[in-house]
Amino acid sequence: MSYLNFKYNANPSEGSVIYVTDQKTGFDQHSFVTDTAYFERKASEEGNSVVTTTHKGNVVITVFLNKKDENTYLLVEDVRRLGAKVTGLLNAEKVEAVSFVSDVDPALNAAFLEGLILANYRYEKFKTKKTEGAFSTVSIAGDALDEATVNELTGLAEGVFLARDLVNEPVITLNAEAFSKAMKTAGDDAGYKTTVLDKSAIEALKMGGLLGVNKGSIDPPTFNILEWKPENAVNERPLVLVGKGVVYDTGGNNLKPGGYMSTMKCDMGGGAAVTGSLYAISKNKLPLWVIGLVPATDNRIGKNALVADDVITISDGTTVEVKNTDAEGRLILSDALVYAKKYNPELVIDMATLTGAADAITGPFGIAMVHDADEDQVKLLSEAGDEVYERLAQLPFWREFDDLLKSDIADISNLGGPKGGATTAGKFLHHFTDYNWIHLDIAGPAFLDKPSDYKTVGGTGVGVRLMYEFAQKMAKK
Ligand code: BES
Ligand code: MN
Ligand code: ZN
Repeated sequence: MSYLNFKYNANPSEGSVIYVTDQKTGFDQHSFVTDTAYFERKASEEGNSVVTTTHKGNVVITVFLNKKDENTYLLVEDVRRLGAKVTGLLNAEKVEAVSFVSDVDPALNAAFLEGLILANYRYEKFKTKKTEGAFSTVSIAGDALDEATVNELTGLAEGVFLARDLVNEPVITLNAEAFSKAMKTAGDDAGYKTTVLDKSAIEALKMGGLLGVNKGSIDPPTFNILEWKPENAVNERPLVLVGKGVVYDTGGNNLKPGGYMSTMKCDMGGGAAVTGSLYAISKNKLPLWVIGLVPATDNRIGKNALVADDVITISDGTTVEVKNTDAEGRLILSDALVYAKKYNPELVIDMATLTGAADAITGPFGIAMVHDADEDQVKLLSEAGDEVYERLAQLPFWREFDDLLKSDIADISNLGGPKGGATTAGKFLHHFTDYNWIHLDIAGPAFLDKPSDYKTVGGTGVGVRLMYEFAQKMAKK
């Protein structure tokens, strides 16, 4: 669900209006502009601004785009944010329906609309009183935006909202099996195929990382395979997306202290991003073969939970000394990365709320990356990151960090040294890959404690717009 409905052939002389303009004069042609001199003055000011006026008792929100010359991804992001601001104003004014009038170029209209749509998300599953009279209908005037663009943005936003919903849902209702069910339901709607491996199948595959983390839980783990393989796919080897699906991270026996545990329902943010990406890619029928892999479990204390000093065996036979049960994400991901080998993938991208160390580097403003992939793949992903404003910050991946994962009694330890925690987590994952691979640590941007522009409070759905844009670029190559 996207919270906004679209109509076409609007009549902006009636009702409330959003007007986006980069014009300096000619405002008298719009009947909803009552004071043209005022509009001309605002249009000549420097910088973008949003102004509310009225016409026949209706609200008219005008966005003056006065920075148009600087046509970069920064401007596009500014325009998304203006869209988000307008959604906020309309909801504050309790305006349910508006006409959309614009005389700027279609690419900027699309960015504006994207911000408008994404900011209108709300999570109300557990509210007995749902919001009434929220902003819900946009009627497009003239050829400001064509229906195909609006439908594509809607499909993409639905993928983002799906990821946000999944992150926002607490573990009491979203355990691993419920998460799998949600993936299946979304797939049936959008068109991708879902296969859920249950505990006995996971045991048969000897996924000792996923089973080890699950040992403290009373709920069984799941391993989820999502596949979109359209007949017109342009790639012969799939793009594989892997997502961390820790439905709750207590830290296990290395229990998270104090306030560090709260918000850890977000620890399946990578899995949610994979699900939302597959949803948007298949809903909008991108001609690309994409597979999603999501290992899911909670990480709990419990009678039989892993303890530090345990040694477990990953599905490729690698033995791991568990030095800290709170470094659980890499354990379940290693089984998924091993599983990815069987697809002979063109590229594997994993997304995970993996380390506080990545959060310390990027904050909520971007994504930490390490990789062992072709430079042109990394470049394409970085460009997608700039364009959707989910930017990538590449961390050092020097060989010295490998040594920090040495174990005295097993092949590898799950804990690195005191420094460079986001890098050593990446190094651990790297051990299980033998293909082009990019690791995205989304611990910083996955969850917000207050809204920021078009990102609402709680789950952000980070990764979905990035993967969608990247898939589109791959399909065009
Ligand atoms: N899920 C956490 C990482 C995290 C932290 C996500 C903050 C989102 C916000 C992860 O499982 C974890 O606990 N990582 C440890 C690793 C350490 C024990 C090596 C960390 O970052 O402290
Ligand atoms: Mn943890
Ligand atoms: Zn975790």
